[in-house]
Amino acid sequence: MKLMIINGPNLNLLGTREPDTYGNKSFETYFSELQFKFRETELSYFQSNIEGELIDEIQKADTIFDGIILNAAAYTHTSIGIGDAIKAIRTPVIEVHISNTFSREKFRHKSFVSPNAKGIIVGFGLKSYELAIQSFLDK
Ligand code: DQA
Repeated sequence: MKLMIINGPNLNLLGTREPDTYGNKSFETYFSELQFKFRETELSYFQSNIEGELIDEIQKADTIFDGIILNAAAYTHTSIGIGDAIKAIRTPVIEVHISNTFSREKFRHKSFVSPNAKGIIVGFGLKSYELAIQSFLDK
């Protein structure tokens, strides 16, 4: 099984960014833990702060990967382009968020990703990614 994790803007700052909301661990550290935990799974990781680069990566991942785990971060709430990219590809996408976006500001309740996602995992901290991997493996 080949899975691609795609992270959007500001998630490169995990570990130092708003630790009360997002925790103290960098994604690089967490990604190494994931690779160890899911040794049988081929995990790839891409992060960008640029909307178009995220769309390019979603398009490139199509058919090459068995699944995409996408945290589009702030673009979740604004990007019709990312929503359309998910609709355009065949590879299933699971939307994840570290924080519970529904218990936060109203503008975080809207997602352009959700309507075309296979499923949504929200609010379990970094464990959200792990739950998404597990759900692809369980299928
Ligand atoms: C986030 C939630 C978004 O609202 C926010 O813009 C992020 C991170 C999360 O994982 O909780 O950058 O996607």
